[in-house]
Amino acid sequence: MKTARILALASLVSITMASGLAAHEDATNPVVIKRMEAMKAIGGSMKTLSGMAKGEMAFDAAKANAAVATIAENGMTVPTLFEANETDPATEALPAIWENWDDFVKKSEDMVMAAKGVAEITEQGALGAVLGQIGGTCKACHDDYRKK
Ligand code: HEC
Repeated sequence: MKTARILALASLVSITMASGLAAHEDATNPVVIKRMEAMKAIGGSMKTLSGMAKGEMAFDAAKANAAVATIAENGMTVPTLFEANETDPATEALPAIWENWDDFVKKSEDMVMAAKGVAEITEQGALGAVLGQIGGTCKACHDDYRKK
């Protein structure tokens, strides 16, 4: 019951974020827009978690767990969304992605594993460790594969 509720919440968050982002202003290539939207959903979830961790946002266990689930769900789509070597003037993706495809996929899997490895969050005090656990996997990929 509980898991079902969390999953329902997670997909709700994804849908809300995706529709809010449907009009990505800069990119025009639909393939690039889709992968940016997935990253935005992931980024929005990290913002929710850090906002709660810092006390800028009221702690809400359901929202926190849904944010972690959104990261895992969108993370799982990364290999498919990035597979085609598509570009756009607005893209921040580096060509190195397609020159080191296996490593890129591995780094997306590291993020998914980190998110899936998070135990159910029940208190604000747990958020710092969660951010650390997941955050390192963002940086590891962005350092090599995203324009700075
Ligand atoms: C496997 C590699 C990889 C991982 C892991 C990864 N990212 Fe990204 N991210 C990228 C790439 C590549 C781009 C640029 C995509 C583009 O512009 O086409 C990007 C773009 C972004 C953007 C900008 C989206 C936009 O266009 O507005 C945000 C925000 C973001 N990532 C957040 C995160 C966060 C937070 C995490 C960790 C929870 C994370 N990413 C993990 C590769 C990754």
